[in-house]
Amino acid sequence: MHLRTDGIIIAIDGPSGAGKSTIARLLADQLGYIQIDTGAMYRAAAFMLSRAGINLDDLTAVEQFCADLNIELEVVAGQHLVRANGMDVTELIRTPEMSLLTSRTSTLKPVRDALLKAQQLMGRRGGVVLEGRDIGSVVFPDAEIKFFLSASVDERAKRRFEELTAKGEPVTLAETIDDVVKRDRQDTERDIAPLKQADDAIVIDSSRLTVAEVLTKMVELCRTKIKTMESLT
Ligand code: DC
Repeated sequence: MHLRTDGIIIAIDGPSGAGKSTIARLLADQLGYIQIDTGAMYRAAAFMLSRAGINLDDLTAVEQFCADLNIELEVVAGQHLVRANGMDVTELIRTPEMSLLTSRTSTLKPVRDALLKAQQLMGRRGGVVLEGRDIGSVVFPDAEIKFFLSASVDERAKRRFEELTAKGEPVTLAETIDDVVKRDRQDTERDIAPLKQADDAIVIDSSRLTVAEVLTKMVELCRTKIKTMESLT
């Protein structure tokens, strides 16, 4: 068993649009933990690779680029910011094009190796809620509590569509459904660290639950786990 200095590690995995980010943020707030959005880190890496014009077929170039890539997640005045090599990329990484590009770049071994290391460093002291696709299976297989948050394709596409149209993105629901299906396929079929439910994960299907209902359930399970861990130290 690991004794972490700042609390337990909470892993939340699941497909895109299952509500992981919202839930991870609220859960972290309730517990006084730090949220680590690993999807944002993969998006920032994709954005920077594309901005630098790196040929994604040249894995040596990708590896060299990633060695000098520094991604930071910061909270400034309640705003969650993503910085890549000092540049604020928070908004730039949220376009549909970046979603598709990230799905591709996140299959590259040098990208995954670099971010895996960064995520393990960020989370090792505990007191963190990490969300992504491979947290419970690869990044922290020894996380004290693992959730797999899911929802039907239609429900996830509907949520993503509402999010994008609220931001003024000119998308249709049919396109959004296509994107969700395509990203699911890329995320689950890749060779390295595919989206996978850890054997010991608690599965929550959020299709018919409100955010508040999902959160209440998760906070309760986490508090119980934290109490158990504290009683062991
Ligand atoms: O969670 P998100 O939609 O922001 O993730 C963006 C992309 O990054 C998505 O295609 C899956 C990928 N990703 C990953 O491969 N591993 C993670 N731990 C997190 C995200």
